[in-house]
Amino acid sequence: MQQLSHPYLIGTKHLTKEDLELIFDTARQMEDIANNRKDGHHLLRGKIMASLFYEPSTRTRLSFEYSMKKLGGDVVTVSDGPCSSLSKGESIDDNAKITAMYSDIIVIRHPQIGSAKETAYATNKPVINAGDGGNQHPSQALLDVYTILKENKRLDNLHIAIVGDLKYGRTTHSIVFLMGLFENIRFTFISPTELHMPEKVTDFLENKGIPYTETDNYIEGIKGADVLYVTRLQKERFTDASEYEKLKDDFILNLDILKHAKPDITIMHPLPRVNEVDHEVDKLPNAAFFRQAANGVPVRMALLYLLLRNNETSLI
Ligand code: CP
Repeated sequence: MQQLSHPYLIGTKHLTKEDLELIFDTARQMEDIANNRKDGHHLLRGKIMASLFYEPSTRTRLSFEYSMKKLGGDVVTVSDGPCSSLSKGESIDDNAKITAMYSDIIVIRHPQIGSAKETAYATNKPVINAGDGGNQHPSQALLDVYTILKENKRLDNLHIAIVGDLKYGRTTHSIVFLMGLFENIRFTFISPTELHMPEKVTDFLENKGIPYTETDNYIEGIKGADVLYVTRLQKERFTDASEYEKLKDDFILNLDILKHAKPDITIMHPLPRVNEVDHEVDKLPNAAFFRQAANGVPVRMALLYLLLRNNETSLI
C-alpha cells in the first residue's frame, strides 16, 4: 500500500511528486463521497480529529471537520483560542502532548510561525498545519494545485501570476514551493514593494533555477499568465495599521484589468476576499475561486484518509 513520504503535513517543501500523485488520485476517488454518490463512513470510523483553531477560519476548519465526519470519524475541538489552556500560558509543546492523548490526528491553526512543526515534534500522532502565522498553509496549497490541474489540465508549462500580500500571505509561499516540483514553471509576483515575496521563497526559486519576476504593475504582471492567484492583504499581520490603510485599495481586480490578460486565465483566490476581486469578476467562466474552495473537501478527505487509515481499510 502506497504511503505519504512523511506522517504529517507541516509545509509543502517536503512533499514529493509521488506524494502529490497519491493525494490527487485519492482526492479524485473521494469526490464521489464528497458529492454523496458513495458512502465513506467506514473509512475512518472510530478515529478522532482534534480541530485546534487559534485564529479565525471558515473554509479550512469546516472542510476538515466535514471531511472527517463524512469518512465516519469524529471531531473534538476548542471553540476558540481563549477556551484553550494555551491562553493560561501552557506551551505549544505541552498542549500538543495532551491533545494527542485525546485524538488520533491534530489539525492546528496558530498565529506563531513554527507552531505546527512544534506540535508535530511533540507527539507521535499525525499533525496537519492549517496555517502557522505568515509562514505556510500546506493543505490550501494542495487544493490550489488540485484546482489548477482540474482547470488547466496540466501542471507543467505554466506561467503563474500571484498578486497581493506576498509577504504575509502564507498560501502564496506554500503554492510556490509546491509548483516548484513541475517542469517549465515561471512566476510573476505583483505587489507593492512593502509586501514583496520573502527571501525564503525567492531563494528557493533561485536555487532551483525557476524564473520569476517582481512588479508593482498589475496590468504588466498578468500579461501572458495562465493562472492568476489573488490574495487579500493580511490586515491582522500588519504591525502598522496606517500602512494597511495606505495599501488596501491598490490592487483590485476588475474586468478592465482582465482585458490585458489571456481570455481564459484561471482566476483563483484562497478566500476570504475583502475588496481585492470586484464581484463582477465572479460571473466569468474562468473565475475558479468558488470551485477552488469546494475542492478543499476531497483534498482534505484524502489527507485525513492517507494519514489515518488502517492498513486493511480499502477505498474501493
Ligand atoms: N483559505 C482559508 O484558509 O480560509 P479560512 O481562513 O476561512 O480557513
